[in-house]
Amino acid sequence: MSPMPAIRLARKAPATSEIDGLPLTTEQVKNEDGSLPWSQIFAQGFKGALGESAMVTVDGSVRCLVGMGDGDDVDSAAWRRVGATFARAVSRVKAASMAVTAVTEIEALSEGIMLGAYCYNEFKSESPKATLKTVSLVGTTSKKAHASVDTGRAVAEAVNFARDLVNEPGGSLTPERFANEAKRIARQPGLSIKVLGMAEIKKAKLGGLLGVNRGSDLPPRLVELSYKSAKKGAPTIALVGKGITFDSGGLSIKSSAGMATMKCDMGGGGAVIAAMSALPSLKPGVNVKAWVPMTDNMLGGDATRMGDVLKMRNGKTVEILNTDAEGRLILADGLSLASEAKPDAIIDLATLTGAAMVSLGRDYSALMSNNDNFAAQVEAAAESADELTWRLPLPGRYRKLLDSPIADMKNIGGPYAGSITAALFLQEFVADGIAWAHLDIAGPAFADSVQETGPKGGTGYGVRTLLSLISNFTALE
Ligand code: BES
Ligand code: MN
Ligand code: ZN
Repeated sequence: MSPMPAIRLARKAPATSEIDGLPLTTEQVKNEDGSLPWSQIFAQGFKGALGESAMVTVDGSVRCLVGMGDGDDVDSAAWRRVGATFARAVSRVKAASMAVTAVTEIEALSEGIMLGAYCYNEFKSESPKATLKTVSLVGTTSKKAHASVDTGRAVAEAVNFARDLVNEPGGSLTPERFANEAKRIARQPGLSIKVLGMAEIKKAKLGGLLGVNRGSDLPPRLVELSYKSAKKGAPTIALVGKGITFDSGGLSIKSSAGMATMKCDMGGGGAVIAAMSALPSLKPGVNVKAWVPMTDNMLGGDATRMGDVLKMRNGKTVEILNTDAEGRLILADGLSLASEAKPDAIIDLATLTGAAMVSLGRDYSALMSNNDNFAAQVEAAAESADELTWRLPLPGRYRKLLDSPIADMKNIGGPYAGSITAALFLQEFVADGIAWAHLDIAGPAFADSVQETGPKGGTGYGVRTLLSLISNFTALE
């Protein structure tokens, strides 16, 4: 994991800080007071908008101005972005301080700082020299503020862990290594883990996972993680994540451009495992069980062929007509296992379809669900996490698009509504009566330009939504 800056709470600015941060609203910029060098500020075009920063010199010391946007609208999402913008702007110094006035948003602010300071240097032979080591938040040292910093750190650490997992290349983050990362975080109290290897996966009849793995030289894994809450009678939520460590498309091979970023295809599984890693710190009053099937999708000599029929964990059969529609095959077995545990609700996360990006662009995930109450909880969680999502319908009338002449269904649904037919496929593996939501994160899992709270590459999308969903989950009747 890339190092995160320490956040200190202080009454006065420390003498060691090299740069002071000053959050300013657009209103404050408009009504310039006498204490700042406004000509310098305006020369940089600084307007105080969210995500903006500018460096100015005041009495010989450097100040970093950070835009807060409209003063009436500074919520926790804005403070998270202020923190991230500040950390990015001062990333080359060792110590910085920032005056804090909005004491209630220390959690979002410190979370943002630790997200903004993230970079992925694992494969650089020379890592950048000076990096941000400490940020002092000046203004309060209360117990509550310390607790907020700790929560912010737990969340940011999980998001950055998910980013690391996505950023690691497919030839490096093999299913075996991915499972070992899950084992590493599962050493924390409150978490337990079971990892199935090839023999156990065969015994468990995970036909979807085995079918996708057939073209690979690397053995698959199935990770099962559990968090047991100390609370009596706590409800149980199940997480399932797509863990394709690299998606070449299989025999339905992708173009070079199409597979260039396909190391991101375990983004759903990465978000699930990373969210689990924060639960021992956050201690929610909810039991959580997670399943992440892991394999790459390759085209070795015995790869699944067009027209092959797979028999899945729940007994249903699937005719394979496009080996690039592999995510739904491994998720199907994950959803069957999750259903067998009879949780109060299931949510799965997957970089599942390019069609999700065609519908909603890079920034939104597509949400589909069989339960309005649970879908509303997911939407509320995404909103509070500042992660964009948009619900699409899940119409039973489209199920016929998956009909196969020789098996129970085929694995593709035709040219239209690709995200919906993929979700309808998944629904076949969710036991009747269980509330279920599916987040297609193909767009937001991987950023091809700098984000509001981090660099290009893995975003850790979904971790914060999951943590918020788990923390606020109420079982449905
Ligand atoms: N992993 C891809 C989806 C994807 C595309 C994620 C781009 C992130 C960015 C998935 O396995 C896939 O290939 N889906 C196919 C499905 C099709 C063959 C029905 C797609 O979207 O083209
Ligand atoms: Mn694919
Ligand atoms: Zn895929």
